[in-house]
Amino acid sequence: MTTSGFQPLDHKRLAPDVMQSRAQALLVEAQQRRSVRHFSSDPIPDGVLDYCIQIAGTAPSGAHKEPWTFVVVTDPAKKKAVREAAEEEERENYSGRMNEEWVKDLERLGTNAEKEFLETAPALIVVMRHAWQVGPDGERQQCYYTQESVGIASGFLLMALHHAGLGTLTHTPSPMGFLTKLLGRPTNEKPYLLIPVGYPSEDCEVPHLTRRSLEQLRIQD
Ligand SMILES: Cc1cc2nc3c(=O)[nH]c(=O)nc-3n(C[C@H](O)[C@H](O)[C@H](O)COP(=O)(O)O)c2cc1C
Repeated sequence: MTTSGFQPLDHKRLAPDVMQSRAQALLVEAQQRRSVRHFSSDPIPDGVLDYCIQIAGTAPSGAHKEPWTFVVVTDPAKKKAVREAAEEEERENYSGRMNEEWVKDLERLGTNAEKEFLETAPALIVVMRHAWQVGPDGERQQCYYTQESVGIASGFLLMALHHAGLGTLTHTPSPMGFLTKLLGRPTNEKPYLLIPVGYPSEDCEVPHLTRRSLEQLRIQD
C-alpha cells in the first residue's frame, strides 16, 4: 500500500456511443453470470486466477487499508478437509440453525448440506477480511468499513472470474471460523466468502430465476 503525494488522474473521456456500447456489452456479460454448483475438475489455465485476484485488489477500501487476502486452495487433500468441515457446519444449518423460512427460501435452489463442489472445483478462493492489521512493530492497526470494502472486492473478483470464462459459487458455510484454522491464517483475518472456481460441468444446471427489471431497480428522484 502506498500513498505519497498526488499525481494527475489518468482519464480519457469516451464518445457517448462508445460509452453506451461498452456499458451494454458489460450488462450482457453480467446477465450471463450464474452461481455454479456443478464443476468440471479441469484445471484453470495458468495466470488467470492471478489476474482476477489483482482485479479484486483494485477495489476501493476504507482509508485505503485494503483489508483483504485471497487464499487459493488447489491441493486435493486441503479441499477435502475444507469440504468435510463445511459439510459439518451445513448439516447443523440445515437441521435447525436456519429457521423454517430460510430453509423454505433455499428449496428452489435445490441446495442441501452436501458440498461435492468443494472437492470437484479445481480451486477454492477463500476471501479473508482483515478485522484489523498488524503494523511493522507488531502493533494493532485499525481498518475501516471492512465489510463494505471486502464486499466490493469480492464483487470485482466474481465479475473478473466470470469475464475470464470461469464459473463461481458465492458460498457461506457459516460459521466459517474453521477456515482460519484450516488455512493457517492469522486471527485478524476473518473468512468472508468461500468461492469454488472452475469450468462448469458439461451437464451443469442452474435454478430458473428472474432478476428485477430496470423499472424496479432504478428510482428517479
Ligand atoms: C452473501 C451470499 C452468500 C451465499 N451463500 C450461498 C451458499 O452458502 N450456498 C449456495 O449454494 N449459494 C449461496 N449464494 C448464492 C445465491 O444463492 C445466488 O447468488 C442466488 O440464488 C442468485 O443466483 P445467481 O448467483 O445465479 O444469480 C450466496 C450468495 C451471496 C451473495
